Amino acid sequence: MASSPPPSRMRCVLVMALLVMAMAARTSTAEKKLLFDQVQLTWGEYHSFFYMDGDEDTLALCLDETNGSGFASKDSYLYGRFDIDMKLVANNSAGTVTTLYLMPEDVPWEYHDEIDLEFLGNVTGEPYTLHTNIFANGVGRREQQFRLWFDPTEDFHTYSIVWNPKHILILVDGVPIRDYKNDPATKMPFPTWQHMRLHGTIWNADDWATQGGRVKTDWTQSPFFAYYRNLRVTPCVPSPGVPWCGAEPAESTRFEEDLDHEALRRSKEQHLLYDYCRDLIKSGDKVLPMECTQD
Ligand SMILES: *[C@@H]1O[C@H](CO)[C@@H](O)[C@H](O)[C@H]1NC(C)=O
Ligand SMILES: *[C@@H]1O[C@H](CO)[C@@H](O)[C@H](O)[C@H]1NC(C)=O
Ligand SMILES: *[C@@H]1O[C@H](CO)[C@@H](O)[C@H](O)[C@H]1NC(C)=O
Repeated sequence: MASSPPPSRMRCVLVMALLVMAMAARTSTAEKKLLFDQVQLTWGEYHSFFYMDGDEDTLALCLDETNGSGFASKDSYLYGRFDIDMKLVANNSAGTVTTLYLMPEDVPWEYHDEIDLEFLGNVTGEPYTLHTNIFANGVGRREQQFRLWFDPTEDFHTYSIVWNPKHILILVDGVPIRDYKNDPATKMPFPTWQHMRLHGTIWNADDWATQGGRVKTDWTQSPFFAYYRNLRVTPCVPSPGVPWCGAEPAESTRFEEDLDHEALRRSKEQHLLYDYCRDLIKSGDKVLPMECTQD
């Protein structure tokens, strides 16, 4: 017997009133950049919405059985620091994936660059996994996964990507968890030339996301909401006299100054769950990628 469609209250709703309230409240937060002005909805726009939470304009992305949703920054950037506050799907989030990533406009796959954070949901009471990957020139397979040290559904936390010519850093509440180096010695590709936009999405990935795909999305719990706010974009600043970050001389230590090696070491020890650099099976050719065996 065919199962009947879920009642419509389980679908995302278009909350126009909240959007109107958010617009009306703009004057009171004139100093601060509104997320509403910084991003555009790119996907499932009919069921994501902005609302004011105190003086924070907040974007709720919604996932239901019909669709997920997503946004992209209106501006694109070549190097910079991106900080945003996110609160993830609460309770039974199994099968859902909430993302934050940098990616260029449509380019052929051989030019595909991406700096990717994916928050893999879980059944109530079990922890999220933060899955990260870096693509350069169409090649990814640089996955590292982390266990967060707090419940990311209880409150907003700050997730950051620092991207400069020498490093890609991922930080959680200011704590660096991942550092991917542009090291000429390894000849690994690194995103160095394309402007990228910041994206956020929520989608259904219950074929693989939770406990290896064994736990499926429970649509009776839908709609699922993930919240974003307080986007801060800080363009990369080169050394005095250098026209832009990409022209920084090779011997410059500009991009090493803020690196906290000790904090990175601690994160690896305490929060790292999976590391492609330790995965001989996945690397296929029986040798670890070159960047894994440097330092
Ligand atoms: C989901 O959203 C995309 C983009 O907005 C749209 O093209 C697609 O038709 C939607 N899918 C469903 C099932 O509504
Ligand atoms: C999560 O579960 C708690 C307790 O049942 C409930 O109060 C809360 O509204 C739920 N949150 C969401 C986002 O469904
Ligand atoms: C979900 O919870 C299980 C059990 O604690 C854990 O093994 C798994 O890593 C968690 N995360 C995901 C995405 O499956």
